[in-house]
Amino acid sequence: MSFDEIIDRRGSHCVKWDMMEKIYGVSADDGIAMWVADMEFRPPQCIQDAVQGMVDHGIYGYFGDDSEYRAAICWWMETRHGWHVDPDWIFTTHGLVNGTAMCLDAFTKEGDGVVLFTPVYHAFAKVIRASNRQLVECEMINANGRYELDIDAWDAQMTGNERMLVLCSPHNPGGRVWTKGELSAIAAFAKRHDLVIVSDEIHHDLVMPGNTHTPMSMIDGITDRLVVMTATTKTFNIAGSHVGNVIIEDPDLRARFNARMMALGMSPNSFGLFMATAAYSPAGAAWVDDLTAYLAENARIFDEGINAIPGLHSMALESTYLAWVDFAGTGMEMAEFTRRTEQGARIAINHGPTFGKGADSFLRFNIAAPRSVVEDAVDRMQVAFRDLQ
Ligand SMILES: Cc1ncc(COP(=O)(O)O)c(C=O)c1O
Repeated sequence: MSFDEIIDRRGSHCVKWDMMEKIYGVSADDGIAMWVADMEFRPPQCIQDAVQGMVDHGIYGYFGDDSEYRAAICWWMETRHGWHVDPDWIFTTHGLVNGTAMCLDAFTKEGDGVVLFTPVYHAFAKVIRASNRQLVECEMINANGRYELDIDAWDAQMTGNERMLVLCSPHNPGGRVWTKGELSAIAAFAKRHDLVIVSDEIHHDLVMPGNTHTPMSMIDGITDRLVVMTATTKTFNIAGSHVGNVIIEDPDLRARFNARMMALGMSPNSFGLFMATAAYSPAGAAWVDDLTAYLAENARIFDEGINAIPGLHSMALESTYLAWVDFAGTGMEMAEFTRRTEQGARIAINHGPTFGKGADSFLRFNIAAPRSVVEDAVDRMQVAFRDLQ
């Protein structure tokens, strides 16, 4: 397959294209959708075949015996991430936003503090607030266009009411792949403040060549407070299948999580399990290798073009396909650089402030699109900010 193929998604009930006019005032007819984190690519043939197999059979009943599915997850974590997972540690949730909500439900109570390192994926704050937990935003340091931890400041910020940390690893937005040293510092921070760590590793396969993701499970001494979440959905562009893996090694945490799963009557949909099982395979792995190489070149082209505009800076991505562009150097108000991007360049993007503290001068651009679309977006931005050249 070619990642260069342009596929018209309009009218397919996809949120990214079919909701962009309503939300951003950018028409899908002449605009480019670069917001929601899904890709403009079809998944690998092995997944299409799995869905086709279901359609050919034509009966969509309840799913039974997920041992093959669990084995596929274990194989993937072992071969791609060097992490040995026992099949019994895995829970299947309705995606990872649901996984996060389930963790809040299982391990915290109303009023408890839940820590985020901001700016960070906006849905975390949404579920924390919606479940009446206290959102605790610990702002990262933007060190010359690269996020770093600010552990001393965060230690001082803790009040004793905090019970959980939701970590994004690799980080969205900004694309940091946290080093083993940084993850150890985060683990020590969680221990000092007695926090359950929910490590959302949904972007772990989308790592740019030259970087290596370290699973949080590799960090010593935190198994009794650790939940790791991964998924096929981001990696293989099957987010609509809504399946997530919540992996818990510790028996006590596992029992508490299981109790909530049972109480809420949670069980997975069969499409998601068929697709995930097919994805975590040698054919899926080969596709991901091609994908990351393609995304890395997209990122290079995007960054080069955007960084050529005076006052704009696109963070160098170590991971993810979500370019995080800082407009601070333009001296413009947010309304102005957003207006130029949406009404001038006709690009629908995510607005910085939705990602929490420290993001007011940013917009997020999804560059997982055919190369010609990324090039078009760069050209449009250069025109929209031409007066700065
Ligand atoms: C860090 C992170 N977690 C979770 C999600 C969404 O997960 P799901 O679709 O499984 O709910 C996203 C989507 O962009 C994400 O970036």
